[in-house]
Amino acid sequence: MTNSQTSVLHTSSLPAAAASDRFWWRRLLVWAAVLGLSLLISWPRPAYAAAASSLGGSLFESHCAGCHVNGGNILRRGKTLKLAALERNGLGGPEAIAAIAAGGIGQMGGYGAVLGEGGAELVGDWVWQQALRNWAAESPNA
Ligand code: HEC
Repeated sequence: MTNSQTSVLHTSSLPAAAASDRFWWRRLLVWAAVLGLSLLISWPRPAYAAAASSLGGSLFESHCAGCHVNGGNILRRGKTLKLAALERNGLGGPEAIAAIAAGGIGQMGGYGAVLGEGGAELVGDWVWQQALRNWAAESPNA
C-alpha cells in the first residue's frame, strides 16, 4: 500500500465515522422505542385486563372489588375470598359464593339486584376461579 492510498482511505473514512458517531443516540432511541413497544405489547397485563376480559370479572370490578380488592376484605379481615378463608367459612364452591353475592351475609348486603339476571352466578364462578388460582392474576406481586 502506498502513502497516497492510505491517505485517501483515511480522508474518506473519517467523515463517515464522524457521521455515525453523531447519530449513535438516534439509533439508540430507535432501539429503545422498538424494545419499549414490544415490551408493551407482550407484557402480561394481569390486573385490569384479566379482570375485565370476562363478564364475571367486570361484575366483580364494579360491585365487589371496593371491599374485596384482590380477593381480600377491607372490613372483615377473616372473611376474604381466598381459598383458605372460603373453606374455613364453609364456602366450598362457586354456588355458595353466588348465593352470598346475591343475598349478602352478615355485615355484607346482597347485590342480586345490581348484578342482574345470572350475574351472581357469573361473579361466583369468577371468584371461585380466582380463589383456586390464589388471585394470582389480580396481584402478581402479592
Ligand atoms: C361494602 C363492602 C362489600 C362489598 C361491596 C362486597 N362485600 Fe363481600 N363481604 C363484605 C363483608 C364485610 C363480609 C364479611 C361479612 C360477615 O361475615 O359479616 C363479606 C363477605 C363475603 C364473602 C364470604 C367470605 C368468607 O371468607 O366468608 C363472600 C364470598 C363475598 N363477600 C363475596 C362478595 C361478592 C361476590 C361481592 C360482589 C357482588 C361482594 N362480596 C361485595 C363486604 C363487602
